[in-house]
Amino acid sequence: MERTTAAQPARIALFDTSRRDLWWVAPMATAAGLLLFVVYTTWAAFQGEHFEWGPYLSPFYSPHFAFTWWPFSPALLILWAPGGFRLTCYYYRKAYYRAFMWNPPACAVGALNHSYRGERALFIFQNLHRFFMYLAVVFVFILSYDAVRAFFFADGFGIGLGTLVLVVNAILLALFTFGCNSVRHLVGGNVDCYSCVALGKPRHQLWRLVTRFNDHHMLWAWVSLYWVGFADLYVRLVSMGVITDLRIL
Ligand code: FES
Repeated sequence: MERTTAAQPARIALFDTSRRDLWWVAPMATAAGLLLFVVYTTWAAFQGEHFEWGPYLSPFYSPHFAFTWWPFSPALLILWAPGGFRLTCYYYRKAYYRAFMWNPPACAVGALNHSYRGERALFIFQNLHRFFMYLAVVFVFILSYDAVRAFFFADGFGIGLGTLVLVVNAILLALFTFGCNSVRHLVGGNVDCYSCVALGKPRHQLWRLVTRFNDHHMLWAWVSLYWVGFADLYVRLVSMGVITDLRIL
């Protein structure tokens, strides 16, 4: 390690650390998990077919656009919005900075370089998070509509396994979205004194609710990420005839 002075903090070489625990497991697992999702999503987004069956619509293709002027997969018109929301999420930033940029790969572990200066320069787009959040809230309502629609088959009201998959998908995305730090700031995080502002009590209650979701933001980030991919895969496999939807009711 380099010697340090008060004016110049230590610059520890990459992976140099006094930690004796398995600190490298988390960034490696994060990298593998994110890569797997990105590869599958990219493949599914470019297919442009097998994204609906009966009352089911893949979340990657919702809302369903069918513009004659757009010659590519309709998913490409959609996925930039939820993708941007996750890319700029405060939790995901930490995850992929550690997993892919090693800057640093973990707490108290040497970084690849020491040039990080906050969300400026190349990273200035991270400041768009609150605007992606507004779009994400709209998507929660759209996917909730899809979940309700999944109860209405050609022969009437019913429940299939795909119905449950899409309902769970909407719930998980709501838990992830409404635990967002920008939502928390919006509903009350910017208030210093709740009893001094209009609607202080309901805002405080809302803030506490959002805080409960926010406490488990990492969990909802991962579960909702993989469930949305699973929802697309389920609809895709049923649509292709590889599996048969289990009709429960
Ligand atoms: S901080 Fe994670 S979605 Fe906003």
